Amino acid sequence: MHKRLKIKFLGLEFDSPLVLPAGVMDMSFSSLQEAIINGAGIVTSKSLTIEPRAGHQGPVVAEFEGGMLNAMGLCNPGIDDGLKEIEQFKKNFAAPVIVSIFATNANDFMQLAKKVDLSSAEFLELNLSCPNVFDEFGIPLAASPQQVFEIVKAVKETTSKPVIAKLSPNVHAIIPIAESAQKAGADALCLINTLGPGMLIDTRMRKPILTNKFGGMSGPCVKPIALKLIYEIHSKIELPIIGTGGVQSGEDAVEMWMAGASLIGVGTAIQHYGINIFSKIKQEIILFLEEQNYDSLMNVPKLES
Ligand code: DHB
Repeated sequence: MHKRLKIKFLGLEFDSPLVLPAGVMDMSFSSLQEAIINGAGIVTSKSLTIEPRAGHQGPVVAEFEGGMLNAMGLCNPGIDDGLKEIEQFKKNFAAPVIVSIFATNANDFMQLAKKVDLSSAEFLELNLSCPNVFDEFGIPLAASPQQVFEIVKAVKETTSKPVIAKLSPNVHAIIPIAESAQKAGADALCLINTLGPGMLIDTRMRKPILTNKFGGMSGPCVKPIALKLIYEIHSKIELPIIGTGGVQSGEDAVEMWMAGASLIGVGTAIQHYGINIFSKIKQEIILFLEEQNYDSLMNVPKLES
């Protein structure tokens, strides 16, 4: 633990500003523990649904120079078994947990939120923005300010946990959507979910690499978009932001912070470099703080709007 990296978020204090975002690692309590042992301050569960989901058929991930595509198809053990893993995690670790939930309507979101409310997780995240289930569920909810408002409001009335709305970058105007989340009572935002979806082709097989054809894009190529959206939202909306999108170094993390993030997610870099990436990024943030004479990340000024 390093005092320069201590961070406050929604009234709680954490040892590290780094977050394991939803869906990156499997849902077992031991994977979540691995992230904490290696330097994450907070872990997010996979997006849990009412019933278990097998997800899409593999291959579900494909790397390219700029990052990665993934089309997991919301594979998860379902809310009941997912929460059992969280409780198991909590028996051994004091680190805070965000439970991510996914549904397609307010009633199902409320049903999930009621269960999370009874758990020992600290925060609830609404995945309003999975890009890979168009065929099954249609356009993501995060494309509609009205739907975002209804769902956030319904969930806020159901739970006493702070609610984080995870928004999509795949919209023409994100500000009205973030404003809807705020008006409905969201406590924080998580930005950004994956971009696209996009496609990669296996030229010898003459077919898309992903069995699902398309997948959400993440990694270094999305970082400039994440920074821009976080910066814009931070300058207009007074909600804390979990900034995620292509972070793989201390420099990237400081950029996220300066753009307006209060916590910083590291996802795709784990796939590429391994779980130890959290420790590397922490070390690099500390070096930046020492070099620039800041005694805490929290004292590094955000960019002016
Ligand atoms: C999936 C869900 C997401 O929210 C995302 O950004 C990418 C993939 C999925 O489960 O397919």
